[in-house]
Amino acid sequence: MLKLQTYDNKVLENKSEEVKNIDKDLENLVNEMFKIMYENNGIGLAAVQVGVLKRLFVMDVPKQGRYVMINPVIKDFSKDKSIYEEGCLSVPGILAEVERPAEVTVEYTDLKGKRKTLKASGVLATCIQHENDHLDGVLFIDRIDPVEKLTKMREYRSMLQV
Ligand code: CO
Repeated sequence: MLKLQTYDNKVLENKSEEVKNIDKDLENLVNEMFKIMYENNGIGLAAVQVGVLKRLFVMDVPKQGRYVMINPVIKDFSKDKSIYEEGCLSVPGILAEVERPAEVTVEYTDLKGKRKTLKASGVLATCIQHENDHLDGVLFIDRIDPVEKLTKMREYRSMLQV
């Protein structure tokens, strides 16, 4: 049974490793990840968030589509930025505005083993960057002002104690 890993668990700080084989086990992992993501009303989930250090994430972004991205590489970032209020299933209850490039071009392998390229904008572009950060052990709260981060973390810890 896979379990959602939350902040303060050191596993989230690890760099995930390339996926070597797309097999039945990986398919099961992906199905389990979608299940956990939907149960928690998320729009994206990286494997590390269920304790599996593989370079892989799933997303289901309203109006923009459902994706499985294996070994993703962001090839291009736009100069234009956009700001979205982000949350993360691994930091429940915390929201913060994060500025990121408004558009990205990502290369990834799908569940059939096909290498694809996608140019994304809007929430999908933000989601790809947020999830891709997880693969390098980076959380959205690492992308905000350090003082704001401290405030958010204090808020998070006080919620955990209730
Ligand atoms: Co997240």
